[in-house]
Amino acid sequence: MLDVKLFEMQSFLPPSYEEDLLPRLKDAQEKLQTGTGAGSDFTGWVHLPRDYDKEEFARIQAAAKKIQSDSQALVVIGIGGSYLGARGVVDCLCSPNYNLKKKDTPNVYFIGNGLSADAMGEVLDLVADVDFSVNVISKSGTTTEPAVAFRFFREALEKKYGREEAGRRIYATTDKARGALKSLADSQGWETFVVPDDVGGRYSVLTAVGLLPIAVAGVDIEALMRGAAQMMDVCAEGGPACPAWRYAAARYALYAAGRSVEILACYDPAFRFMSEWWKQLYGESEGKEGKGLFPASVDFTADLHSMGQYIQQGQRLMLETVVRLGASARQLCVPRDEDDGDGLNFLAGASMDFIRDRAMEGTLLAHHEGGVPNLIVEADGKTPEDLGQLIYFFEYACGLSGYLLEVNPFDQPGVEAYKKNMFALLGKPGYEGRKAELEAKLNK
Ligand code: PA5
Repeated sequence: MLDVKLFEMQSFLPPSYEEDLLPRLKDAQEKLQTGTGAGSDFTGWVHLPRDYDKEEFARIQAAAKKIQSDSQALVVIGIGGSYLGARGVVDCLCSPNYNLKKKDTPNVYFIGNGLSADAMGEVLDLVADVDFSVNVISKSGTTTEPAVAFRFFREALEKKYGREEAGRRIYATTDKARGALKSLADSQGWETFVVPDDVGGRYSVLTAVGLLPIAVAGVDIEALMRGAAQMMDVCAEGGPACPAWRYAAARYALYAAGRSVEILACYDPAFRFMSEWWKQLYGESEGKEGKGLFPASVDFTADLHSMGQYIQQGQRLMLETVVRLGASARQLCVPRDEDDGDGLNFLAGASMDFIRDRAMEGTLLAHHEGGVPNLIVEADGKTPEDLGQLIYFFEYACGLSGYLLEVNPFDQPGVEAYKKNMFALLGKPGYEGRKAELEAKLNK
């Protein structure tokens, strides 16, 4: 079972910090469990691993099987919470090189997560000569980036297969009743999956939003949900030994003591997009009202050769949370070289995991000495079950953290600001006044 370890925290926090925070953690726990805190309309994810729609889950598995049988590629269109979780899990469990590997599951391309014509054109080229399907994901059904991308890929599908067959290759994941995507899907007869009303984008990876693409890539989504349910039980119990309580307490106490940046580190490059998912989760949940730790991430050991300098000796802004994923699936040992020209024979026969673990320990000690508090999130391994535990752990700790910080962890009012400006500058009807005002500012 996933655990949290706090390395020598007494160098940074008073010994009583966990006890001091207990009443506030109990209050945050109560709010999450009973849905009585700020943003409680969006706490459907708390019991999701137990209460998820089993009928829809079976449809997701059936759709994944169909896509695996009739498509060489799945194009997944979505942004933010409608993108990062699925990408994180697919990269982590199937490899960032998943699309390059020999396999009997379709390639999965993520698009609609930006406005780059080159990125879009590249995926259009990649699917031009293969059979493909599209999963368009948007809770609101109105987000510009995925909506624009979907126009391109729907057109490509219809050109290739005709409207009827194209319709059998489009899967829309959206609100159960509202939004342009839902209306379009219903009018065209596309298969739809639901983003539940009470689950916000960044907490939606364990709904159809994440599950369909993840299942298409061949991941056992039952095991993913099982892992999440195990952690749900641990978190429902709560208490000082609960890993989510311990993580939330330590990062909050460090924030209150003046730390302003949390770096999430992992020694497995396949974790990179899980870190991106984590950044959105914590950044959008906590970063409001002038508060919140800034979530950043690093890939170790690669970034020890770049960001390592700052972490060791730059401004003392940060705390570091290291995710450890246990033993690698493959055990590779350093070959012996009789000449030993590189002087590396002292490592001959050592496994890569052994070397990595010593690097991990050396870094922990160095960063601690350099004044960086270290929190360790230790997973048993890198299976779907482990990742399910990890996802739920981070979600739950994030809800607790938001309540400790006294913000609503489930809204994101700040995301609207850029959208309004973009719509105005693009000439969207209804934004005429703002357009003139913004253009005058830009042309100063
Ligand atoms: O967490 C959020 O709410 C956002 O990141 C959204 O997920 C993102 O903006 C995409 O929204 P939608 O799913 O409505 O297209």
